[in-house]
Amino acid sequence: MGALRPSTVLALALLAAASGTGGVAGQQPLDFERYRETIEPIFIADRGGWGPGRAPCVTCHAAQGTPLRLQRLRETAGGEVYWSEEDSRRNFEVVSRLVTPGDPDRSRLLRKALTVPAGGAALHVGGKFFESKSDPEWQAMADWVAAADPVERPAPPRLDFDFFRDCVQRMYLDKRPGDVECIHCHETGVRGFARHIPEGRDFWNQEESRGNFAITRRYVEPGEPMMSRLLTHPLAPAAGGDYFHGGPRRWDSTDDPEWQMLAAWVRGETPECVVGAEADAGGSRE
Ligand code: HEC
Ligand code: HEC
Repeated sequence: MGALRPSTVLALALLAAASGTGGVAGQQPLDFERYRETIEPIFIADRGGWGPGRAPCVTCHAAQGTPLRLQRLRETAGGEVYWSEEDSRRNFEVVSRLVTPGDPDRSRLLRKALTVPAGGAALHVGGKFFESKSDPEWQAMADWVAAADPVERPAPPRLDFDFFRDCVQRMYLDKRPGDVECIHCHETGVRGFARHIPEGRDFWNQEESRGNFAITRRYVEPGEPMMSRLLTHPLAPAAGGDYFHGGPRRWDSTDDPEWQMLAAWVRGETPECVVGAEADAGGSRE
């Protein structure tokens, strides 16, 4: 087998945490310099086209609320695009969360754009870019990941279903002044996380709630509110929201009590439920 026992991995991780540098007792962390030199160019590379499977990764992944949320590119006077070192460090943090150090095959970054027969993920809205694992770009990513030692990561939190049913779904129905409710646009189709409520009722039953939960989960990254499109799509861009939403911006800022509440839920908590008018009243009660 040759794999480290979990207790050994944990001990190494604890040692690394205690030292504060991450580089202790033979433990090799993901390498930033190498990432910057060999991985980031892959995200920018021109592939001679647009749309799924053709566009540079960064066209879709800059500042969008997908889990791979990269910084926007800067441009030199001569029109060359680049990321500053600070940008690259932020990107590195995000990308690091999408890989399993030491294990390329279990790394989301590597599986997503790889074709299914080659062992890739079933679906990538952005299309498939790598036909096989011998693709040089895929290899570069795999080598980078394989060079790092395994680390013990806390399991992502569980999203509480009861809280979703009783509270998050109320938000789907709530109308803020001047806005349209989520259910107005999201009751059908692939993004139908707030399904049509049958005649004669004004809320979803248990089974329907389960269905809404399953679809909502696609837009939630447990433990990571800012990587969760449910929270970033209707958030104002100035506050870190996505550039585009076919619907309204419900939250001007992440300070909105309702946004805060949803963020807590995404982190695995079950906060007090504040929706719409209640949330507004929280700030300015007469
Ligand atoms: C045409 C737009 C587009 C392009 C180009 C694109 N992607 Fe994506 N990607 C998406 C969207 C939308 C999602 C979120 C939905 C999904 O998971 O498919 C996503 C999700 C991802 C994720 C997150 C996976 C997860 O497990 O949550 C990774 C990793 C990723 N893409 C990698 C890449 C890489 C690497 C490239 C370039 C080689 C790339 N993407 C190019 C649109 C794109
Ligand atoms: C006026 C119609 C409208 C309303 C109201 C609306 N949306 Fe949307 N929403 C859209 C459209 C259209 C899209 C697809 C295009 C896009 O990505 O913005 C979308 C996309 C999304 C996505 C991303 C799905 C994906 O495929 O990546 C999320 C998450 C989302 N909306 C959440 C919400 C939430 C939460 C609410 C309520 C607070 C809401 N929307 C209200 C029209 C609406």
